[in-house]
This record gives sequence, C-alpha cells and structure tokens, in this order.
Amino acid sequence: MALHLNDSGLIKTRAYINGEWISSRNSISVRNPCDSSLIARVAKAGCFEAQHAIDSAYQALQPWQAKAAKERASILRKWFNLIMESQEDLAKILTAEQGKVLAEARAEIAYGASYVEWFAEEAKRIYGDTIPAPSSDKRVVCIKQPVGVVACITPWNFPNAMLTRKIAPALAAGCTVVCKPASETPLSALAIAELAHRAGIPKGVINIVVGNAHEIGRVLTKSPLVRKLTFTGSTEVGKSLVADCSTTLKKTSMELGGNAPFIVFPDADLKAAISGLMASKFRNSGQTCVCTNRVLVHEKIYEEFKQKLTSTIKENLVLGHGDREGVTNGPLISQTACETVDRIVQVSLAKGAKLELGGKPSRLGVCFYPPTVLSDVTNDMPAAREEVFGPLVSLIRFTSEEQAIAIANDTDVGLAAYFYTRDIGRVWRMGEALEYGIVGINEGIISNEMAPFGGIKESGHGREGSKYGLDDYLEIKYMCMGGIDD
Ligand code: SIN
Repeated sequence: MALHLNDSGLIKTRAYINGEWISSRNSISVRNPCDSSLIARVAKAGCFEAQHAIDSAYQALQPWQAKAAKERASILRKWFNLIMESQEDLAKILTAEQGKVLAEARAEIAYGASYVEWFAEEAKRIYGDTIPAPSSDKRVVCIKQPVGVVACITPWNFPNAMLTRKIAPALAAGCTVVCKPASETPLSALAIAELAHRAGIPKGVINIVVGNAHEIGRVLTKSPLVRKLTFTGSTEVGKSLVADCSTTLKKTSMELGGNAPFIVFPDADLKAAISGLMASKFRNSGQTCVCTNRVLVHEKIYEEFKQKLTSTIKENLVLGHGDREGVTNGPLISQTACETVDRIVQVSLAKGAKLELGGKPSRLGVCFYPPTVLSDVTNDMPAAREEVFGPLVSLIRFTSEEQAIAIANDTDVGLAAYFYTRDIGRVWRMGEALEYGIVGINEGIISNEMAPFGGIKESGHGREGSKYGLDDYLEIKYMCMGGIDD
C-alpha cells in the first residue's frame, strides 16, 4: 500500500542506533489491519542491535545529562515543533499501520506532542531541597539526578503518544533511551525518531529497535547499564518484565491493564453520561486501557439509558477504513483481537447476558468487529471480568451506591473509573471510595499531559505526565555536609 505523504523522508524502515539508520538481514512486515496489505518491511533487530543500542545510550548519557536543563528544554521544544509541523503525515502513517480513523490519529499526534512540550517546560523545574540539619555543624541538601539509561517498551494502540510520554520525561530529566515499539506499529516510532534527529537530539540519546519482544526484552532487562524500564502493555507481560528486572534491581514504571467501570446514578445528566460513555468506550474502537469496560446503571434509569445508548450508537457510529470520510471506527489491530472480543460476547451470552446490538464479526474484513451492546451482564461474566479491548458495551444493573462501589472495586486492576451524578456529597464519597488511579467525574475523557496518568493494584505503578511524571526518571541524592561550626 502506497502512503502519500508530503515528506516521504518520514518513512524509515531501519533501526535507529547512535544517530544512524542500521539495516538487518531479517525484516518484519508491517501491514494495514483494514485489509492486511503490506505497508513496509522494517529491519528486525535482535540481541546484537539491542546491545549496540544500550551501549550507544550509555555513551551518550554523560554529555546529555551535563547539558544545562535550558538547553535540553530548547532541543525538546524543537522536536515538539517538528512533530506538530508533520502532524498530517504522522497521522497518515499511524492510521495506515494501526487502523484508527484519521481524526483520532491527528488527535494522537497532538496528544503525543503535548508530552514533549510539557516536559520541555518541566525540564527547567527539577528542584532539589535544603533540609534543616539535626545539628548545627551540619547542612543537608538534596539534589535530583537522572536515573541513567532507560528502556521504553511501548504498545500498538498509541504508537506515537505512548512513546513520547516516556521519551520526553526521560530526556528532560537527563536520561538517554533505548525504545522497543510494538512490531505491529513501528513506523510511527521511527518517523518521530527521524524528527528527533532533525531537531538536533544528539546521537545515542534516542535509540529505537524493532524486533522480537522476548529477545530484545531479555537484553534490556538483564543489562546492568539499563537503570530503568518503563512499559505500557498487558498486566501479564508487565509482571514478567518486573520479575526480569529484579536481577539488576532496576527502577520500573508499569502502565498496565484496566477494567474501567462507568457508573451512572439516577440523578445524572443522562445526555452528558451517554456522550461521555461514547467517548470513553469507542475511542480507538475500545482499544485503550482507560476505555470503559463495564457500564453500571442504576435500576431506576436502566431501561431508558439502554434505549438511548443503543440508538445513539446506531445513529452515530460508522465502521470502516480509517482514512475514509464519515467513518468513526476503524478495525481492531488483528484477527486474533476480533476473535477475543467475539469469544467474550458469546460466553457472556451463554451465561445469561442479552444481545441488544451487534455481536457478530463484521463482513468488512477479519479485523472488524461492530459496536456491540450486551444487557443484563453480571460482574462474574467475561464481559465484566476481562479487559475487552474492543467496541463492546456491557450493561450491569445496580440498586445502591454501596453496591455500585462493591461491583466497581471487585477486580484485581485499578486504572481508570468514571461516574456521573449531580450530587456533591456523592461526588466526594465515590471519588474517595473507588480503588483506581484516575477517576472521571461527569467526564469521559481524562487523558492529558498535565495530569498524572497511572494505576494502582495490578494496573501497575508510576505516573506519566504532569509534574509527577519526571520523578520516575530521577534519583534523589542527599548530601550531608559536616564541619560547618568553627
Ligand atoms: C493506553 O491505552 O495505554 C493509554 C491511553 C491514554 O493515554 O489515554
């Protein structure tokens, strides 16, 4: 499939190591999930390239961290400007390899760039502390220093933003990085590496290798030169990476799976709740870890909510190729992803859920699954227990606030939760009772660069974005000075 870009130099198909584009004997085919057409073949890196990338990042570390924060900030700002100037081309690449519709791809590029802009600014605000000393002959000072070389492993659902959300704070803090983007969507990562190169980010500061996850993951986790690993992906893989990092006791940040409840109380503004749910559920066709996974609706408004939601979906969502006018939802990432959603639907139906809409793979192609609504779902069905990662709405009935909290918290994960109510007392009670890292209150879109993104329980640890997002890339050093008294 030919991609028509203004700047064809953004299509890169080799590994980016030490400021150079490195080829390899083996390759990975990158395909468009709409029709499986071949977009490009990308050099497949292995252990050798991964080690080369680590060594390059290690070599580049000292000079990069020695730069004044203001200089690092200004280089990051140049990168941000170049990303935004190439927004349209980057969006086309993203839609082609990932499938999301062009409007969402453009939004992702701006979202990803916002982390670069934010951390360019935050680079200048890495403050230390002076602390009152325990005796008059001492002084106590804390400084913050970069952790060192950081490994970043990123997923296919946000091939641009998940990478910038890791690289930007790492570079702002003075770290250097080795990134392994998902093999399904490497072109977005390589394109922003090209823009980083043009922005003057010195060689070795950013390195990108695409290849077998186990092979590269093993080199990254075992290397003593890598001092931190940051990962966005499944809880299962996150746990195994943390275990592998334990042999070198690396710092880790894990942004893992979710199972977001979306709770609608009888006093909610129903129109706002439906529009919040549409945004939260169908963003990226349901393939985000903060997408609504279970919709809890109070029994008093359950039927009305179900009717209104089902007609809103029928009237507004159009499934199709992401680059076509009028399409609102693209394909899922793979045939396997569709089969998983279908299994969750069919098993939940067999356990007593009722089909209100959709529920059968689409004829558009093997990666397309239509928006689907199940009612009478209970919290023990796969539709409520598993992270769906697809356009499935599961409606659960509840009768009291206590019951809603119990159902919402009855899961091992705790990334995002949402609720709709106009009762101020309930806003506080719910906000405090929900065991989640992010809570949307009368709001379905909660992600932005200024807020701390991250979960609790098996959704992981660490925060990305916001003033807290730099902490994960910094170490605190305490210096105790003695002999001050005469
Ligand atoms: C994710 O799905 O991992 C991230 C979603 C977001 O940043 O909103």
